[in-house]
Parts: sequence; structure tokens; C-alpha cells
Amino acid sequence: MTAQRENWGTRIGFIMAAAGSAVGLGNIWKFPYMAGDNGGGAFLLIYLGCVLLFGLSLVIAELTIGRMTQRNPVDAFHRLAGPGWAFVGAMGVATAFIILSFYVVVAGWTLAYVVFMGSGALGHLNIDQNTEIFTRFVASPVEPLVYAAIFTVMMVGVVLGGVASGIERVSKWLMPLLFVLLVILAIRSVTLPGAGEGLSFYLNPDWSRVSSGTWGAAISQAFFSLSLGMGAMLTYGSYMSRDQNLPRDAAMVVGLDTLVAVLAGLVILPAVFSAGFEPTAGAGLTFMTLPAVFDKMPGGVFFGVAFFVLLAIAALTSAVSLLEVVVSYFVDNRGARRGAAAIGTGLVVFAIGVPVSLSQGIWSDVTIGGKSILDAADYFTTAVTMPVGGLLISLFVGWVLGPRAVEAIRSTPDHRLPLAGLWLFVLRFVAPVGIGWVLLQGLFF
Ligand code: PHE
Repeated sequence: MTAQRENWGTRIGFIMAAAGSAVGLGNIWKFPYMAGDNGGGAFLLIYLGCVLLFGLSLVIAELTIGRMTQRNPVDAFHRLAGPGWAFVGAMGVATAFIILSFYVVVAGWTLAYVVFMGSGALGHLNIDQNTEIFTRFVASPVEPLVYAAIFTVMMVGVVLGGVASGIERVSKWLMPLLFVLLVILAIRSVTLPGAGEGLSFYLNPDWSRVSSGTWGAAISQAFFSLSLGMGAMLTYGSYMSRDQNLPRDAAMVVGLDTLVAVLAGLVILPAVFSAGFEPTAGAGLTFMTLPAVFDKMPGGVFFGVAFFVLLAIAALTSAVSLLEVVVSYFVDNRGARRGAAAIGTGLVVFAIGVPVSLSQGIWSDVTIGGKSILDAADYFTTAVTMPVGGLLISLFVGWVLGPRAVEAIRSTPDHRLPLAGLWLFVLRFVAPVGIGWVLLQGLFF
């Protein structure tokens, strides 16, 4: 064994960092518009089912692999089962690069919108005008890249600080702030006149809007939102100490992530209905519909700025975990220093982010499989490499490790894994069948 691996400073610190990874653009930008597109409350229920059914089991599985090996994803599989399995980790590292390349771009937009909202540039505009501003902004060749660069620098800065004194410390400050902002915004939203309609849309399931695609959407959303299938949870698990109660802390992280997604829906949907708009603008809901919503509400500038700050914080702590996957690989396996690995990866990520950003403007006619570069990067990771990775991790822990994994969790006397048999059953059968079905379904689109 090489030098002692760095550990999280405290249990709460780990929970905040891992929840920071999970809570991201997926919860606040994607979840509400997916619920809006898929029958509101019906999607909410199906999503909760997926999280309970296999989200939690997989989070425990990834954290366990990490803590057992104390290594990055590539090495972790290698150590447990030989080089044949190491490709699962390698796929995770590659996925981290691809997700980061669009994550920094979209996160850059949220930083820009903090400025736009705060400066009053979006005041008194209707949805059409907001749509035009948004499309013009993302299409411009330079401006979004400046914001993406600022975001990249912030992300690298946090990872440079290290695990406990960088990632953990920043998460311990930012996550509580995120919660406070979210609760303030949710209260504002549900007390707006006419919010009731949005509430009932969100809380009363409309099963007629549910199709077989809804299930697939919910499963892949659960993966993305819980940072699963590509080694982020595994990497964070590798910094967990052996006397931390892993199943309990995993449940906390999953609970917090789900709570934030549910609250984000409570912020966005009632406000959208109250302003008399439809929640079906898809990915544009946040940037095109919401500014007009804020414009109509008392104190809208304050709440608008708070909302985009919230989004930027969520994005930052998630991006940090993606970067940490890559950095831990270069540090463990290539003998890189943390600083060099973080800065080098940041530069590469930004470089891949350039075509992703340009794909919204001057390179919009460059398509991959009929999608813009940004949509292709999102689709390829969310619908392909993360579910495939999750499927393999599930089979790996269920069949290859099996009782060894249960043993590892129970290695200290006071740490029980309740329902260990059920956990293994989910990893062996339920999750692989569910994920496999979604993947097959994706092939027929
Ligand atoms: N979970 C993050 C979100 O919801 C995205 C993410 C995916 C982060 C994979 C890390 C790893 O936005």
C-alpha cells in the first residue's frame, strides 16, 4: 500500500461534499422541466420509485468499491478484479471529461444570468424577448466562453485546495447556503397568487401524460442526479474512513439530493403557472421562461439573482466532483501532482468546451447523430455511458464481489447493512434488468 490516502475531515463534511456532487444542474435545471414535460406529479412519483428502488443501492455500491480500495475508479476495479474490469473505471474517467465539457458551458450561462438578472437587463421583457436574448447570448462566439472560463477557474481553484481543505470546506459553506436560498425561493413561489394550479399540476399525477419513455427518462435522470455510473461516488467513497457508517451516510446523500429536486420543482412550477405560462419549454424553461416569471413577481430582481446564484453553486460543487475523478486518476496512476493534474485537466476541459459552446451558434450546423455537439455530449453520457457504467457496477458488486462487499461494509462492529440480502438482490437482478431495459429502449429511438 502506498502513502495513506487523504480522508474527509468529518462525517458531515463528507455528506455535504457528496450531496454537493449529487445536487447540480440535474436537480434544478433538468428535473423541473422533465416533470413539466412528463405529467408533473406522475413523473415525480416514478422518479421517487427509481431512486428508492436502485438509486440508493447503487450509491452504496459505488461508495463501497471506493472505500474498499481507497483508489481512483480505474485502479479500484483493477485491484478488486484484475485488468479486465479496469475499463469500467476508464469509461468513467472519459465520461467525466465529456460531462465537464458541457457542464462548464451551461454553468457559465448561469453565472451570466446572475449578472443579467442583477443588472436589470432582463427587466420588463416577455418570454419571446427573453428567448431572443438567451438564444443570442448562447450563440455569440465569445461571451459564453468567458463565463465558462470563469467557472472553470473557480472549479479548478476548489480542487487545487485538496479533498478536506478544498472540496469539503467549500461544500460545507455552500450547501447550507444553497438550502437556505432554495427554501426562501420555494416559499416565495408557493405564496404567489395563482400558485395553486402549479402545485396541483406538480402534486396530482396526470397518468395520461406518462408513456414508456417516461420510465426511461426517470431512470436516467436518477443516474445523472445521483452522480452514478461513472465513478464520482466511487472516488468520494475512496476518501471515506473505515469507521464511517456507509449505508446511513449514503441514505443521507440520496435523501438530500431528492429533497432538492423536489423543492426545485416547488420553486419553478408554481411560479411558472402563477405567471400564466406553460411549464413545457423543455431545457429553455430556466433561461427563457423564468426571467419573465421573476419579472412579474414582487421583489423579482432579488429572487431572480438568488435563483441563479443557487444554480451556480449547485453546478460548482458537482463540477468539482467530476474534476476530482480525473484528478484522482492522474495523481494515483500517473504520479501527477494534484496541482498539475487539476490545472491540466481544467485546460483540456475548457478546450473541449469551446466546440460545445460554439455548437449553440456559429457551429450549429455541425451535428452528431442529428444533435448539436452539446446535446450529443449530454445524450451520450446521460443515456449511454452512465447507464452502461451503472449496469456494470451493479453486476460487479452484485455478482463479482457479492458477500465480500457486504463484509466490507460490516467490517466494523457497529455498522450494519440492514437488508443486505435485498441489497444484493437489487444489484444482481432488479437494477440490471431496469437499466438494461432503458438502454434497449434508447436504441429504438
Ligand atoms: N449529479 C450532478 C447533477 O445533478 C451531475 C453529475 C453527474 C455530477 C455525474 C457528477 C457526476 O447535476
